[in-house]
Amino acid sequence: MTNTVTINDVGPRDGLQNQPKILSPEERLQMIRALLAAGVTHIEVGSFVSPKAVPAMAGADRVVSGLSDQPSGYFTVLIPNLKGYELAREAGAKSVAMVLYGSEGMAQKNVNMGKHRAEEVTAAILEQASGDGIRVTATIAVAYECPFDGPTEPAEVQRIAAHFLDLGADEIAIADTIGAANPCQVRQLMDRLVERHGAEQLSCHFHDTRAMGLANVFAALESGIHKFDASIGGLGGCPFAPGATGNVATEDVVMMLHQMGYQTGIDLPALVRAAELAKSLTGTAPLGRSTPWLKRYLERTAA
Ligand code: COA
Ligand code: ZN
Repeated sequence: MTNTVTINDVGPRDGLQNQPKILSPEERLQMIRALLAAGVTHIEVGSFVSPKAVPAMAGADRVVSGLSDQPSGYFTVLIPNLKGYELAREAGAKSVAMVLYGSEGMAQKNVNMGKHRAEEVTAAILEQASGDGIRVTATIAVAYECPFDGPTEPAEVQRIAAHFLDLGADEIAIADTIGAANPCQVRQLMDRLVERHGAEQLSCHFHDTRAMGLANVFAALESGIHKFDASIGGLGGCPFAPGATGNVATEDVVMMLHQMGYQTGIDLPALVRAAELAKSLTGTAPLGRSTPWLKRYLERTAA
């Protein structure tokens, strides 16, 4: 069993897309640089979506080009359609995350497109991306429950994952978009996926709406998953998924992993500084639930 876990910080995208305060591309770059300084190597830096639909993500091209001087680091951008793919490629993105759907309702609300149409578009993007040398993550949104259609059939998630791994997706991210999953469901679904495909190309994305985010990370670890999305300062929430709160906070996940003996390559004191920057920029980042303890612990151990 590998002892290393990769954290993909989605704060600059998932974290910011629904905040009352809109950050400029330069402020978003400041947040990303603070994450890089903490040793976070994988970051979702923005999305190429309609600025009318998500004003907070306008200027994603400036964020991507602002990172061209960062040779190390895996920067992903989220895309909803072929136009998003083209804009991302033109901006110089080397890794994209295209969204697929466990339910019809979420597909319609999020991108005004049927879930099967989103699958056709993703297949076309995969074909283009292999020629362009661009890495593709296929993110399966509402993999456990949809705010419009209710529970998602695990068999449907398994079908989508198998199909897109066959088509050449580099990674499949299983997303609990509204934070509705419990650890038993996570363990069952991830066990089945890992049994069939291995863990190498699978990752998990949890929101902490019902305070089960960390427990769900643990459940997925037990299934053998070692790549997780998390959001600095616990920022997050989807504008098109009512009731969803932030992602599980990166600082909570990293603290738990380190205490369990996993390595992440992330420096916790610098990560806490990145979370504080996210809070001062947005005014709304809730911060990890471990923050008060973590600060006291870090002060004690630094002394
Ligand atoms: N990036 C930027 N602009 C885009 C775009 C993209 N990826 N895709 C479409 N557009 C523009 C079109 O050019 C058009 O512009 P115009 O009004 O100036 O002519 C406008 O958006 C509408 O295009 P259309 O194809 O009719 O899209 P739509 O109105 O059905 O909306 C999406 C579809 C996908 C563009 C929109 O719903 C969206 O951006 N959703 C993103 C949702 C999101 O980010 N969710 C959170 C993350 S999961
Ligand atoms: Zn999310």
